[in-house]
Amino acid sequence: MNTRGLPRTVQRVIVPPIKCQGIKTKLTKFILSNISWHGQGRWIEPFLGSGAVLFNVQPDYAIVNDINPHIIRLYQMIYEGKIFPETVRKYLTEEGKKLLLKGEDYYYFVRERFNKSGDPLDFIFLNRSCFNGVMRFNKKGEFNVPFCRKTDRFRQAYITKIVNQITQIRNIMKGKAWEFRIGDWRDCLHHVTPDDFVYLDPPYIGRHTDYYQQWTEHDAAELATVTQHLPCGFALSMWKENRYRQNQHIAQYWNGLIERTVSHFYHVGSTEDLRNEMEEALLIKPGFATAITPSVESDKPLQLTFV
Ligand SMILES: C[S@@+](CC[C@H](N)C(=O)[O-])C[C@H]1O[C@@H](n2cnc3c(N)ncnc32)[C@H](O)[C@@H]1O
Repeated sequence: MNTRGLPRTVQRVIVPPIKCQGIKTKLTKFILSNISWHGQGRWIEPFLGSGAVLFNVQPDYAIVNDINPHIIRLYQMIYEGKIFPETVRKYLTEEGKKLLLKGEDYYYFVRERFNKSGDPLDFIFLNRSCFNGVMRFNKKGEFNVPFCRKTDRFRQAYITKIVNQITQIRNIMKGKAWEFRIGDWRDCLHHVTPDDFVYLDPPYIGRHTDYYQQWTEHDAAELATVTQHLPCGFALSMWKENRYRQNQHIAQYWNGLIERTVSHFYHVGSTEDLRNEMEEALLIKPGFATAITPSVESDKPLQLTFV
């Protein structure tokens, strides 16, 4: 029997080993408690990012897609048993020692090496020791985030934390039929069946700061059109409003959907007073939302770090 349907109450949120902008770790409970899906088809995630939502849904069947090849390659290699948690421990222990000894130059040495070879272990190293956990690539597709400036970044406890996160996702993926794809979202929405469910978390419109996060008005409009013709359920994450602005795209493109919202704080700097409150929406195709808005959104705003 399939037990992977939604809604589900998540007791302990699975935190993925890779960090990226817009990571939904803190919104996972909210997302999983508002979607209603029998779980018998495929969970399709065209904009995977860190995989925070996928690893908490833990579907039996999935299409896992992102235009960023580094994320997908890493997860696929863990899935296929080509990268083991112990391989990561050994690698980070050795590289961490070199970072401590040689200082920040070593970070930039690894960054250059990664930009030539695309080594997935170097990708973990950079993702977990770069400034603010940001994932940013320049026009040539090169990772260009500076160092977090902590040469003792890879202390034993931190390595263990990363290795445990890898072990956890490896265990989740075991025995599951997941198809990994690198490419544009359009390519993974062919042959969708009524039993599938599509979860969408596209980049913000107009933030052309990253090679893999380019998202135009045209993309947004096309996504809305394609999605609304899907034969299955879908949900879309999107920011709704903050102190200064409302997201006009919700009314413009996503009319007629069930809207669930949650407030959270995000940090734009290091101090408490640089917190901004943001309302985040989950827009769900009618027929695929839970009946009652769960209480996750009431108690107090969630705390998110803006990266
Ligand atoms: C907001 S992030 C997703 C965050 C994710 N839900 C999480 O929890 O980490 C958007 C993702 O879409 C990917 N992306 C951007 N343009 C894309 C495209 N045209 N097709 C597929 N993926 C794309 C980016 O590489 C990025 O990983």
